[in-house]
Amino acid sequence: MNVYDSRQIENMMRQAGYQRAGSADKADLIIVNTCAIRDKAEQKLYSLLGRLAPIKQRNPDVVLAVGGCVAQQEGKALLSRVPYLDLVFGTHTLNRIPELVARVISTKSRIVDVGIHVIEDPLPTENARGNGKEVSRFVTIMRGCDNFCTYCVVPYVRGRETSRAPDRIIAEIEALVGEGIREVTLLGQNVNSYGNREGLITFPELLLKVNEISGLSRIRFTTSHPKDLSDALIESFVSLEKLCPHIHLPVQSGSDAVLKRMKRRYTRDMFSERVAGLREKCGDIALTSDIIVGFPGETESDFQLTLDLIQEIQFDGLFAFKYSDRPNARAAGYMAKVSEKEKARRLQVLLDCQQAITLKKNRALEGTEQVVLVEGVSRMSDTRDPQWTGRSLNNKIVNFTIPEKIAPSEEDWVGRQVKVVIYKGLLHSLQGKMLA
Ligand code: 5AD
Ligand code: SF4
Repeated sequence: MNVYDSRQIENMMRQAGYQRAGSADKADLIIVNTCAIRDKAEQKLYSLLGRLAPIKQRNPDVVLAVGGCVAQQEGKALLSRVPYLDLVFGTHTLNRIPELVARVISTKSRIVDVGIHVIEDPLPTENARGNGKEVSRFVTIMRGCDNFCTYCVVPYVRGRETSRAPDRIIAEIEALVGEGIREVTLLGQNVNSYGNREGLITFPELLLKVNEISGLSRIRFTTSHPKDLSDALIESFVSLEKLCPHIHLPVQSGSDAVLKRMKRRYTRDMFSERVAGLREKCGDIALTSDIIVGFPGETESDFQLTLDLIQEIQFDGLFAFKYSDRPNARAAGYMAKVSEKEKARRLQVLLDCQQAITLKKNRALEGTEQVVLVEGVSRMSDTRDPQWTGRSLNNKIVNFTIPEKIAPSEEDWVGRQVKVVIYKGLLHSLQGKMLA
């Protein structure tokens, strides 16, 4: 979501006459877009600002701005904490950036704008400027969240759930396809409730429309809340040929007691039952998830239940995080905090457990044929025997070689789907050879 927003910011500043500088010390304007999801993300902002301080010292005319979730959360306090900061803008004032920057420069004043306004929907073409080499893009379809999971800062920093109009989304994707994009990932905190509040079409109906866009090869989406994963959405994986067989379904914990205190509104059994439904209809679907370890009050036996769920479900991959208190989030006030040391231990145990599963799953793909959307020449590649890279339908990174007799130039392959036979399954990628 921040990648998408940063691109909007870049496009707006381009229209205001700015150009991308090669590095921060060559820039007249530095904009930092921030994430507040965990304490670690927030701390990264402060260390970055520390590193930027000498630039401001050398040249006080450089404009330094901080936007996004940490800016929304901290507001004016950020200006007091960072005396050399010029501008703080929130998650709802994105569209005002050119005007805010111009005002900082003309009035030589420090500005905070973190009010809550309806974000004007960006013009589709504004997001659509590819660099000719990109194959895949994010497209935000909704903003904010109404779920208020007790650990989560999102509802406080991104506000209430609002969905973009389907015709704007479609127009944006069509423009992207016109620029050479072949795959889109539709983004929302909870895509299943797309359109509910505004009375628009449903998410499966939106997927159907996106599926009809000619020139587009692949559709992905994230994130789907397990409690709202509908039969209609499961059916979409069967009926829409462009919808890739991978779903990211954050479970967070395998303990009902913890899920309840997280206010996730599903039980472990409900989660398993939804996964069974998915696998029944779409056997080869890849499944990834998010886990939080060390939520307040999480006991060793709660944690064992999470490990047990991981063994039961056999996810293709996991993103696991140590719980951290977030301002305003209800769980920040919960007692029985788990120590940092214990959180680190549980995280490691969990990651080790998942690694073995991921490796086993990737090895099981050895000998299979995978359809890969080609993204380019792999960075590790040497020129004599170029390694190409792309993703399988299941969203696994595939590095592969192209037989010499059919090896044309990069431009010819990027954005195309090719068949690759896998000869090695590694932890983070698959290795293969393109079929002649
Ligand atoms: N502490 C740790 N992890 C968190 N996440 C969200 N809030 C917190 C928090 N306070 C994780 C969840 C979510 C992912 C995006 O970030 O697992 O799914
Ligand atoms: Fe946060 Fe829960 Fe909303 Fe996801 S669904 S953004 S975890 S409040």
